[in-house]
Amino acid sequence: AALMPASADLAGRRILITAGPTTTPIDAVRYITNHSTGRMGAAMAEEALRRGAVVDYVLGLDKGVVRPVAPRGAEERLHLVEVRTAEEMAAAALEKLPLAQGVVATAAVMDYAVAAPVAGKLKRSTEAATLDLVPSADVLATLRDAATDQWFLGFAAETDEVEAHGRGKLEAKKLDYLFANQVARLGAGGATGFAVKTNAGVLLSARGDRHELALGSKQDIARQIWNLIA
Ligand code: CTP
Ligand code: CA
Repeated sequence: AALMPASADLAGRRILITAGPTTTPIDAVRYITNHSTGRMGAAMAEEALRRGAVVDYVLGLDKGVVRPVAPRGAEERLHLVEVRTAEEMAAAALEKLPLAQGVVATAAVMDYAVAAPVAGKLKRSTEAATLDLVPSADVLATLRDAATDQWFLGFAAETDEVEAHGRGKLEAKKLDYLFANQVARLGAGGATGFAVKTNAGVLLSARGDRHELALGSKQDIARQIWNLIA
């Protein structure tokens, strides 16, 4: 399946994709984020464009984040919106939702936001400091609540019990599909998860199907996911 040539089975479809990390500012010069590079989202977008879709791509900005490259002739079908915080991502995605038939949520959204970011630059002190965090916007839940007849594909990176946690999220978030993959524990390295070019995992569907996708490039994984859901 990985070597099957891309067809135009998404022609006339418009897909909303969230990708990359979100950030939450601490002060004027500092922020908190995660290791997401946006690569899985870029691969999903590039394959959708190859298959003829129009793509609204809402990308969390960070240093070195990977942007999708539209295949030749598909440039005008890629609409890029760049955001920083979870709240900005939710607002930008919500605006695009009515245009879409399907939503692909690859973004690694920060679950917490700094409660009260400082307007200027925090000064160094010899005192211990604490940072108050509050829950940030749930982008996928915001979209799900506003959905009319769109289908939803979520992604879940898990350190333990990948499939059980994945199945739980698919149901709790009322998704049609969820791709769950193993993410290595901090410092352990590995070929799947954040900031690596390969991935492997299991695509679960609300109908109860499961498809294991063997280790491959994120492009291979994206092609296999679209083969299964397009
Ligand atoms: N997601 C989102 N907004 C959030 C958190 C998650 O849109 N604030 C989306 C992700 O893009 C992904 C899916 O929800 O498609 C699952 O993300 P994940 O972080 O695995 O789920 P959480 O419910 O946040 O659970 P966890 O406690 O494991 O982080
Ligand atoms: Ca999360």
